[in-house]
Amino acid sequence: MPRPLPVASTAVEPAQILREVFGYSAFRGAQAEIVEHLIDGHDALVLMPTGAGKSLCYQVPAIARHRAGQGVAVVVSPLIALMHDQVGALDEVGVHAAFLNSTLAADEARRVELELTSGRLVLLYAAPERITTPRFLAQLDALHASGRLSLFAIDEAHCVSQWGHDFREDYLALDVLHRRYAGVPRIALTATADDLTRADIIERLQLEAARVFISSFDRPNIRYAVVEKDNARAQLLRFIKDEHAGDAGIVYCQSRKKVDETAAWLAGEGIAALPYHAGLDTEMRRRHQERFLREDGIVMVATIAFGMGIDKPDVRFVAHLDLPKNIEGYYQETGRAGRDGLPADAWMAYGLADVVNQRRMIDESPAADEFKRAQRAKLDALLALAETHQCRRVRLTAAYRPPPGTRRKRRARRSPASTAFMRRAGSASARAI
Ligand SMILES: Nc1ncnc2c1ncn2[C@@H]1O[C@H](COP(=O)(O)OP(=O)(O)OP(=O)(O)O)[C@@H](O)[C@H]1O
Ligand SMILES: [Mg+2]
Repeated sequence: MPRPLPVASTAVEPAQILREVFGYSAFRGAQAEIVEHLIDGHDALVLMPTGAGKSLCYQVPAIARHRAGQGVAVVVSPLIALMHDQVGALDEVGVHAAFLNSTLAADEARRVELELTSGRLVLLYAAPERITTPRFLAQLDALHASGRLSLFAIDEAHCVSQWGHDFREDYLALDVLHRRYAGVPRIALTATADDLTRADIIERLQLEAARVFISSFDRPNIRYAVVEKDNARAQLLRFIKDEHAGDAGIVYCQSRKKVDETAAWLAGEGIAALPYHAGLDTEMRRRHQERFLREDGIVMVATIAFGMGIDKPDVRFVAHLDLPKNIEGYYQETGRAGRDGLPADAWMAYGLADVVNQRRMIDESPAADEFKRAQRAKLDALLALAETHQCRRVRLTAAYRPPPGTRRKRRARRSPASTAFMRRAGSASARAI
C-alpha cells in the first residue's frame, strides 16, 4: 500500500497558482472545474478544442499536488518537439519539469531519473514507449509506494484510438497505469472528440469512471471556405496574396513530394515558404519549425506530420491543397489557425480527383474490412461538409456532438459571423451561403 507523505504545506488555491506562476488572471471555460476535480484525486477525460488551454488543466494540479507533498506528475506525450516546448515553457516560469526521451544521452537521462526519484520534479514528460518499459515502471513503483506519484496526464489521448488520425500503438499499453497504480488520478486530453474515438479512449485507457468534460468545439473566429479546384496552385497564390500577404499560415499537402514542390514554387513567387515533412532530416525540421514559431509571416508547407501541439497564436490561415482524410483531421488541422481569437481563414481547394484518390487509398489499404468501412464513412462525412450549402463552421461543430445539456449554451454562442463561403473557380467574388 502506498504511504502518503504528510502534507508539506497548506493547500494553495489553484487560482493563486494560475496567477503567480503563469501570470493569468482567470481560468478559461471548464479549466477551473477540471483542476479542482484532479486536485481532489479524481479521473477526467477532457475534450477541448485546439488552443483552448488543455495543458493548464494538468499543470496547475501538478503544482498544487507537488506543493502538498504528493510528488511528481507524469505526462505522456507523443511528440518530442511537444515535450521540449512544454518543458521549456515551464522552465521559463520557474516550474521544475523535465523530459525523458530518445534525444537524451545516457548520463542526461540518468540525471533526470535521479531528479525523479528524489521527488524534486514537479512534472515529468515522457514518451509512451518509455513509460511502459520495466525500468521506468520500477521507478514509478518506488514513487507510488512512498505516495509520491501525484497524477498521470495522457496528452493527445486520441493517439490510443485506431479510429483516430494519429494512432500510436504504444498508447495501447498505457492501460497499465490504471491497473498498476489504481488510485493515482488520471487525466486524458484531446481535441478529437467524435463518438468512436471518445468511446475508444474510455475503453482502452479504462477511464469508465472518469468524469468527461466536453467544451464547445465552435471556433467562431475561423471562417471556413472551400473552392472548386481549378488550378489549385494559382488559386492558393491568389488567396495568400489577396487576403494574407505577410501573414503566417500553414499549407497542408498530402505527399512529401508535393510539399517540397509547393514550398519551392511559393518561395519563387516571393512568399516566405518553408517545407516540413517526416522525410526531411531532424535538424532541418527543427530549424523550419523554429523559424515558423519565432519569425513573422512564415508560411509552412507541410504534411500532417506538422502541427500537433504547435502553439503559435497568430497563424492567420490554414490552407488545404488536398482533401484531408476525415473531419477530425480537418478540424485539428484548421484549428491551428487563429488561436489568439482574431479572425482567421480555413481554406480548402477541393476537386473530384481528390475523392477518387482517397477512396482508392482506402480500398487498396491492407486494413480489415471493418476499418475500411469506418474510413469510408468518415470520408463521406467530410465530403458532405465540403459540399454543404449550410454554414461549414456550424456543421463542423455539430460533428462533435456534445451531450444534450450543453447544446443550448453552444447555440447561444454562435456569432452572426458564422458564414461560410464557396468561391467558384475563376471567380474572385465570394458567395455567402
Ligand atoms: N486561463 C488562461 N488564460 C490565459 N491564457 C491561457 C489560459 N489557459 C491557456 N492559455 C494559453 O492558451 C494557449 C493554448 O494552450 P494549450 O497549449 O494548453 O492548448 P491545447 O488545448 O493543449 O491545444 P492543442 O490541442 O493544440 O494541444 C497557451 O499559450 C496558454 O498559455
Ligand atoms: Mg495541447
